[in-house]
Amino acid sequence: MTALTLSTAAAPGLRADAIVIGVAKGAKGPVVAPGAEAVDKAYDGSLAGVLETLGASGAEGELTKLPAPAGFKAPLVVAVGLGAEPDAETGFDAEALRRAAGTAARALTGVKKAALALPVDGPGALEAIGEGVLLGAYSFDSYKESNSKAKGARAKNGKAPLGEAVLLGGKPRDAAHKGALARALAVGEELNRARDLVNTPPNDLTPASFASIVQAAAKEHGLKVQVLDEKALTKGGYGGILGVGGGSAAAPRLVKLAYTHPKAERSLAFVGKGITYDSGGISLKPAGHNETMKCDMAGAAAVFAAVVAAARLGLEANVTGWLALAENMPSGSAVRPGDVLRMYSGKTVEVLNTDAEGRLVLADALWAASQEEPDAIVDVATLTGAMMVALGSRTLGVIANDDAFRTAVYEAAEETGEPAWPMPMPEHLTKGLESQVADMTNVGERWGGGLLAGLFLREFVGDGIAWAHLDIAGPAFNEGAPFGYTPKGGTGTAVRTLVRLVELTAEGELG
Ligand code: BES
Ligand code: MN
Ligand code: ZN
Repeated sequence: MTALTLSTAAAPGLRADAIVIGVAKGAKGPVVAPGAEAVDKAYDGSLAGVLETLGASGAEGELTKLPAPAGFKAPLVVAVGLGAEPDAETGFDAEALRRAAGTAARALTGVKKAALALPVDGPGALEAIGEGVLLGAYSFDSYKESNSKAKGARAKNGKAPLGEAVLLGGKPRDAAHKGALARALAVGEELNRARDLVNTPPNDLTPASFASIVQAAAKEHGLKVQVLDEKALTKGGYGGILGVGGGSAAAPRLVKLAYTHPKAERSLAFVGKGITYDSGGISLKPAGHNETMKCDMAGAAAVFAAVVAAARLGLEANVTGWLALAENMPSGSAVRPGDVLRMYSGKTVEVLNTDAEGRLVLADALWAASQEEPDAIVDVATLTGAMMVALGSRTLGVIANDDAFRTAVYEAAEETGEPAWPMPMPEHLTKGLESQVADMTNVGERWGGGLLAGLFLREFVGDGIAWAHLDIAGPAFNEGAPFGYTPKGGTGTAVRTLVRLVELTAEGELG
């Protein structure tokens, strides 16, 4: 992982392989962002013009390399686009800095040390830049045997990720600055771990191996962990998880991971969908729809990462993560379309489509979480293709049983740089869940499939508990080109939103 350090040094005298500066899109062309004054001065104040000559506009995602001016210890200047120039009072927003830092870190693979001279107006900016660096420098190379000999360092296209990022404008002795860096580290490292889990192929990441990874982390961070295996699930009557996991040779698990703070007054429960592979089951997905279905445990990975990050940060709240882990496979022991499952809550569900499996495992975990009567429950799931059709591949949908809570969750997501949008639960859709033989079915009419899934889940939330559901089917896995701090593959979506929700809870501003 890239090392982060703070320094008040001036760019010219700094020994580094590259100096990163920001360039914004001004009304009349590129504008050199604050933080790069010394660099601009060394170009006799003509840096904006030089950049324009090189074709730079300051647009987001843009990257321009130029030789450092004479007298600089570093040989290279890398200018990253920050997007539209904000007015002087508001300054650059955190997400613009995070993305620019991520773009720079992605471009600096194979580089040992870079100094970032981006606009820093306080700890918030440092945190965003630090986070952007850690997330942008991420690579997943555990399965690239041909690359792994690069002296132990993980290699990307044969090159190791950026070794060290020096954040200029950060004071190494300032408590607020150090705190910002610590937060960036905890969130960045745990988020990257969630990405690793999503990217790990499903022949290696099974419900049992996922549970072992959580147990090891719990030990490391002093968290309470409890793993229900297939025997315990049978004894407890977890019909939803058992039904979905029944077709696989890799048996299901329900993992409970708890972080408690002695002074905490409020409690939150997070529930994650952890389908380690979604083949669709007997309602098998066609070719073209299953190649990326290792990502179907991204909700559980996000919940896991957020609980560990909250613990590392020592936030003053109690947080319990519930990971509903199963593999959805077709076999002689798989649940059939037409089967009726008796869920952990006691309700019966007629399974009409075995590919609508996420709601079945979540139902049991939501009911289990409800039994402890937390102040609020938030579930995270790659639940429906319909939500992806509605919101595209970068925005998560927020559904809730309470308007104010939905707004709070949606705003927390936006605040952390995770695009989100509130979605409704139209009551008339519940008609589609009516079953001839059981209390309900697991699928209804096709239109509004993401909303119907929310209505289904709502049935398994205990009375009086504020609940929100994050459908991350789109943003959990990036099938396109990398952008900003987002790599190809697992993205770690929802981790930052969940951590922010814990912070708000600790501050007494949620629920
Ligand atoms: N895991 C899928 C949803 C999904 C689709 C996630 C695309 C990520 C990308 C989920 O289990 C599923 O198969 N949902 C079905 C539900 C339908 C059968 C009611 C869907 O969306 O088609
Ligand atoms: Mn499915
Ligand atoms: Zn699924």
